[in-house]
Amino acid sequence: MTPDTPTVSDIFAGKLDSSHVLLRGWLHHIRSSGGILFLQLRDGTGIIQCTLKKDQTDAKEFERLSGLPIESTVEISGTVRKDPRAPRGYEIFGEKVTVLFPAEEGFPIAKKYHGPDFLLDNRHLWIRSPKLQAVMRVRARFLDEARRWLADHEYLEVQVPILVTAAVEGGSTLFEVKYFDQKAYLTQSWQLYAEAMICGVGKIFTVAPSFRAEKSRTRRHLTEYWHLEVEAPWLDLDGLIHLEEELVSHVCQRLRDQMPEELRLLGRDPEQLASVVSPFPRITYDKAVELIQKSRRDFKWGTDIGYEEEKILTESFDKPFFVSHFPKAVKAFYHMPDPKNPKVTLSTDLLAPEGYGEITGGGQRIHDFKLLLERIKEDDLKPDDYKWYIDLRRYGTVPHSGFGMGVERTVMWICKLEHIRDSIAFPRLINRIFP
Ligand code: 4AD
Ligand code: MG
Repeated sequence: MTPDTPTVSDIFAGKLDSSHVLLRGWLHHIRSSGGILFLQLRDGTGIIQCTLKKDQTDAKEFERLSGLPIESTVEISGTVRKDPRAPRGYEIFGEKVTVLFPAEEGFPIAKKYHGPDFLLDNRHLWIRSPKLQAVMRVRARFLDEARRWLADHEYLEVQVPILVTAAVEGGSTLFEVKYFDQKAYLTQSWQLYAEAMICGVGKIFTVAPSFRAEKSRTRRHLTEYWHLEVEAPWLDLDGLIHLEEELVSHVCQRLRDQMPEELRLLGRDPEQLASVVSPFPRITYDKAVELIQKSRRDFKWGTDIGYEEEKILTESFDKPFFVSHFPKAVKAFYHMPDPKNPKVTLSTDLLAPEGYGEITGGGQRIHDFKLLLERIKEDDLKPDDYKWYIDLRRYGTVPHSGFGMGVERTVMWICKLEHIRDSIAFPRLINRIFP
């Protein structure tokens, strides 16, 4: 047995016009009408309709197939027929349907409304739905295109540990794990290791899980998420912003060209991505505060910009935009204070429009030994926990910057999803770790 038989996507690509094919897959839907069985076959590459005529099939066999439970595994032989009325322009004129593994009756997911908890309890089955199939394809293509762009611009893909001994983004969202006789944590970001690696291999990136023990239930927080992170030496805040906008533009234009069917199915008009081209608007934190204060007069300078405030900001932009120069107090210790105004940092978040908000966070890092030590102490962190990290400033320090992009946050925006849980196959949320 090999999985490399003709596929539904080969048919949709017009490669098998009028040929005789043998397709294998799952019975996605079945109905009969006027002596014809309409079977929708899902083979992992797409869903195609097959017709089977009663007068050309053994009567008993036709009867048996009419009652076949959905999700049964079947093999269908027939001829590919071009038909402009069919959803993707093709259907199969079936000759023989062989049932390989009949499914049990009562597949839990029916063609009716199910609540989110039910669908999450049955995620292992709901993952077969056209919606999640489309998201998984967009997500894979998104990562593919991001990797391609980074490789073309000479960024090297590297991997660093998930099990770590110190916080990157503050202690309140750390997951603690027992590491033999020691205490360890699941990492929040690759960043500290990335800063070590740039002195060896230069410009780098990773795609890896990050963990946040987020205690809040929101539409955009997972406890385990995938993080696309980039770090480079000789890069300042301005260069970083340019890098981010070029990468995001590239990915969005490719998805617009290559995934129109999937995007439309999810309710995202691919043409809406046409405006996502570099350069993106930039505002400072100060300007953001002004905009927020127009509708929230009590919002004070120095407060972190949360989801609700970001939503207000997104009303002023129809494409992604940068907010830069956040106050020192709302950003992690490693952010470089602005030499022109040390109350703020050379940091930047990229916010997606339409109410989605933050999809990346990053900035220029402190490369000065003394300044870094000061900031660590100022934030009540233990210099010993960051001993090796501080060491990097003693041996060949370099101005450098980087950012982290939430893969699910970005996919959620591109696919116009209502909740982050649908941008990942098996979401990990505050109240859910099963299935
Ligand atoms: O803004 P954050 O916390 O920045 C960092 O971790 C930096 N160390 C990254 C770097 O500079 N290399 O996280 C980066 C991004 C956010 O912008 C968001 O998109 C995503 O990670 N993110 C989450 N995504 C889903 N669920 C969560 N709980 C997330 N927390 C952050
Ligand atoms: Mg952030």
